[in-house]
Amino acid sequence: PRPVILDGDPGHDDAINILLACSSPELEVLGVTTTYGNVGLERTTQNALIVRELINQTSGADFPIYAGADRPLVVPRLSAESVHGASGLDGPDFPTPKRGAEALHAAEFIIHSVRQRPHQVTLLPTGPLTNLALALRLAPDIAPLIREVVWMGGSLDTGNWTPSAEFNALCDPHAARIVFECAAETGLKLTMFGLNATHQAIANPARVAAFRQLGSKVGEFTAVLLEFFAEHHRERYGWDGGALHDPMTAAYLIAPDLFEVQAMRVDIDISDGLSAGRTVCDVWRVTGQPPNADVALKVNADGFFNLLVERIARYR
Ligand code: BDR
Ligand code: CA
Repeated sequence: PRPVILDGDPGHDDAINILLACSSPELEVLGVTTTYGNVGLERTTQNALIVRELINQTSGADFPIYAGADRPLVVPRLSAESVHGASGLDGPDFPTPKRGAEALHAAEFIIHSVRQRPHQVTLLPTGPLTNLALALRLAPDIAPLIREVVWMGGSLDTGNWTPSAEFNALCDPHAARIVFECAAETGLKLTMFGLNATHQAIANPARVAAFRQLGSKVGEFTAVLLEFFAEHHRERYGWDGGALHDPMTAAYLIAPDLFEVQAMRVDIDISDGLSAGRTVCDVWRVTGQPPNADVALKVNADGFFNLLVERIARYR
């Protein structure tokens, strides 16, 4: 199996990404690292602990959790209680975590893991890129040793937090710039699942029902998460469900054929103007700059949801 580190801000869709990765024999979850994002760091870390407890109780799987950045590098911190509720994981009942997080900082765990297993470790960030940017600044030697980074964030077209910017990119544009520039400079393999891709996978009531019909604890947990997540998407976009952003990162490693990507140059706007945090994608190669990222374009949504249901079914 491919060793991965899941770096996120759980978060409903981050939580489902952790469930997907931990039930997939193609992946070996070395650890989960947390960042501020949807809510503050203390809550996102607590939510990661809750998800681990549930996974442990229903499959026996286990992994360490490391808390990381509690704020962006430069700009003030944003949060998304309007989407994820005050806890960041509003909706389902969950078990009380029996264990806490490790003492090591998330960025240090990333650095140690990559150095320990050179060219093997894949990073799946599903929140602001602050932890990864910190790791790359603390230990520039790890860039060529990372196997691959698959990030949920950004957008080829419109944003969701401003007309220009997606939430994860907007939270820490400077961190995103560090990561995308690192890819340009070192050849670090970087894939971006932006809103243009993730908005193709809507967890509509029929898809939510498939999780509930599993009749299991984790199936029900997933269904309730998706129902809560749907509320915001109904109000804001008029859709009949939430866009299931973050689990595309693990799904891409497990079943790459479900997705179509295109290599292009991506730069991040770090100005504080109208386009702050925008992932500027050079689709037509007008800059003459070589590509630094694979940008996801198309998603086989049915295939993606079938994979998710099949993997969630593996929990008792
Ligand atoms: C991203 O923002 C968060 O609210 C979600 O977890 C996802 O990572 C979508 O813009
Ligand atoms: Ca997230």
